[in-house]
Amino acid sequence: MLDDKFYDKVKANSVIGHIFNDTAKVDWGNHLPKMYSFWSGLLLGEHGFSGNPMQKHIELSKQTPMTEIQFSEWLLIFTQTTDELFEGEKADEAKTRAANIARLMLHKIQTVTSN
Ligand code: HEM
Repeated sequence: MLDDKFYDKVKANSVIGHIFNDTAKVDWGNHLPKMYSFWSGLLLGEHGFSGNPMQKHIELSKQTPMTEIQFSEWLLIFTQTTDELFEGEKADEAKTRAANIARLMLHKIQTVTSN
């Protein structure tokens, strides 16, 4: 599963791992199902995700730097994991959408913080 492999890398990552492990102290049993439904909603049109990612990340950025550096690292891990596991149209779509959302999130964060 993309999300499992992605988060194995995230947890061990020196640039952003600490945000998940220490800042947010992510409960993976809760986070992973959310991410499955987030991505299956975007890519497959399935319903079920109810969350507020923008708000969550804005809150995180008040506790720890969330700048171009962290977002580039996030995107790099996402792209690498997608390429390791998949190829084709949906994989390309996932990467494009992740990049677009990451850019939008960073932009929103920059407008509410001084990062
Ligand atoms: C620097 C980059 C990022 C970091 C460090 C990060 C970190 C996190 C953390 C720690 C959480 C858990 C928050 C909590 O439940 O308290 C979270 C939730 C989430 N993240 Fe990220 N994230 C990043 C970028 C992204 C991007 C680019 C996307 C989408 C493409 C994304 C999608 C989500 C979603 C859907 C949730 C669940 C939100 C909810 O429960 O409402 N994240 N993220």
